[in-house]
Amino acid sequence: MKLGVNIDHIAVLREARRVNDPDIMQALYVAIESGADQITIHLREDRRHIQDVDAQNIIMHSKVPVNLECSINKEILNITAKLKPHRATLVPEKREEVTTEGGLDVFKYEDEISYAIELLHDFSIPVSLFVDPSIEAMDKSKELGAEMVELHTGTFANLYAMLYSSLSYSNHSIKEFELPRHELETRLEESLEDIKNAATHAHSLGLEVAAGHGLNYQNVSQMMGIKEIIELNIGQSIIARSVFTGLEEAVKEMKRLIILHPTHP
Ligand code: PXP
Repeated sequence: MKLGVNIDHIAVLREARRVNDPDIMQALYVAIESGADQITIHLREDRRHIQDVDAQNIIMHSKVPVNLECSINKEILNITAKLKPHRATLVPEKREEVTTEGGLDVFKYEDEISYAIELLHDFSIPVSLFVDPSIEAMDKSKELGAEMVELHTGTFANLYAMLYSSLSYSNHSIKEFELPRHELETRLEESLEDIKNAATHAHSLGLEVAAGHGLNYQNVSQMMGIKEIIELNIGQSIIARSVFTGLEEAVKEMKRLIILHPTHP
């Protein structure tokens, strides 16, 4: 299983002061030296973290593939096409959101996604769709011509955090998941089942399967039993841990957790 390290949050910190510290290129080199198999960045329409010049430099200098996340906005798609990342992952984007909430609605935006995939293919860029783990979304992704799907693991991660972390005691407790433990446990099992079933189905359709969002050092082991998932994209937890351990150790530790697991030699 490959580890894609999302380094957007390095740029979040930098943009907070509008300086060049921490240096995103240093983060790129450290992440790669520490075992990142891929670098993932999101060029948001509001440019709240990664800037165009970051994307350009990262794609030009990265020794490992760069997965560029982008919305289906035409201006962003044209920039992505020119940047020529190794892969583009189409994600939903709302200006007011804190992070990407939920997968891309492949039914509502069928025409826009179809246009985006065609455009990116014209520039020889393979496309992944960041989608919720449902059978219908896998079928639609295949029909639309994507090479890959990235399964949104947010629901699973939120349920896991409400059960097994201090989140429920914090300001950011998730109201809709303030439920009795047995109910949370059932829902967690169901969310994992959804991910497994979607991964198996996507694989049977010939789609490559990645997963991401909210994965961390505690919950990542749950992904290891799903052999169809070949890649995880992880950002927040790695960058958060790096505040205490340094980025090198944070990436190495995640890599150890992924590699050591018996089902993914
Ligand atoms: N994959 C995709 C498509 C994302 O949009 C994000 C969040 O930017 C991630 C993975 C990483 O999520 P997290 O930062 O929660 O690890």
